[in-house]
Amino acid sequence: MKKRAFFVSAVLAGGAVFTAVSLAQQQLPTHLKELLELGMHPGHAFIDEGREMFHKPGPNGKSCATCHGQDGKKLEGAYAKMPRYYKDIDRVADIDTRILACMTKYMGYNAKDKKFKKKFNKWSGPYRVPLATYVASLSNGMKINVQLDDPQEKKLYEYGKKLWYMRVGARDFSCGICHTVLAGKRIRLQGLPDPVKNKLYTHWPAYRFGSDRMWTMEDRVRSCWKAYLLYVKQWHQKKDWVKKPPPYSDWVIALELYMKKAANGATVEVPGLLR
Ligand code: HEC
Ligand code: HEC
Repeated sequence: MKKRAFFVSAVLAGGAVFTAVSLAQQQLPTHLKELLELGMHPGHAFIDEGREMFHKPGPNGKSCATCHGQDGKKLEGAYAKMPRYYKDIDRVADIDTRILACMTKYMGYNAKDKKFKKKFNKWSGPYRVPLATYVASLSNGMKINVQLDDPQEKKLYEYGKKLWYMRVGARDFSCGICHTVLAGKRIRLQGLPDPVKNKLYTHWPAYRFGSDRMWTMEDRVRSCWKAYLLYVKQWHQKKDWVKKPPPYSDWVIALELYMKKAANGATVEVPGLLR
């Protein structure tokens, strides 16, 4: 039911034809390729939802468009340079973190309100994922260009590189073991992508057909962290796992910075479509 609703709205959206064909998309199963050929990318519904949200006033009467222009004019190209350091919040932010900061700092949403936080964090919630997808789409066709000008950016980048190769948890795994060393091999029937070498950041946020959801890179990093790195619990073992890192934490943003910098020069094509 949910799936169908997405398709319908994607078609109503004017059937924007998806022309970009990235490596991941070349490897898509036939039924998804056919969808793309028909111009029915289920992720496009999120762009529309994000655009609507972008122009909707928050509790203090301001909308994103109040500061960033009608149709996000002033945010064109911004996503291609993120994560980066922002003076007003004194930290390096990715798209999710930046949107949360803008909503709570500038639009009257209450960061301490548990209901708002929950709604914001949710995959299928009205704020984070559609807004991130919309803002990212304003950089479509532009080249990723992450610079490390600020000392905080440099520091976080180095940290990200270290995290990538750091072996942790019960399996003594690292991101790099799967995505650098074993890249190209299969695990649980899934091919292991190399997001660094193949500059895969270009297609994030991506719609994952299997889970029927749009994912931002925050979601992807945190899920891999939890699903693969860590968790082995058998009857004779004590818990030996590292928890999912909290959202918007430096751990996540450091890894994003590492991967996005590696994608410099490649063209943003969002939303991606993955199986
Ligand atoms: C009252 C003004 C205001 C509102 C409303 C606002 N922002 Fe912002 N936004 C800012 C400021 C200030 C910055 C920091 C700009 C800088 O340092 O370059 C920023 C930065 C950003 C950036 C990064 C831009 C870049 O060049 O890297 C994004 C993306 C963004 N905002 C998205 C949003 C979204 C989405 C909304 C609505 C949910 C929103 N903002 C609402 C003031 C606002
Ligand atoms: C045990 C192996 C394993 C480990 C460890 C692992 N991942 Fe993954 N990762 C996968 C698999 C498998 C996929 C593909 C999933 C799919 O197709 O849905 C994936 C997908 C990804 C992608 C998306 C690639 C694309 O297609 O665009 C990114 C980015 C990523 N992982 C980052 C990380 C990061 C960061 C870490 C460390 C915190 C990590 N992964 C740890 C197995 C792993």
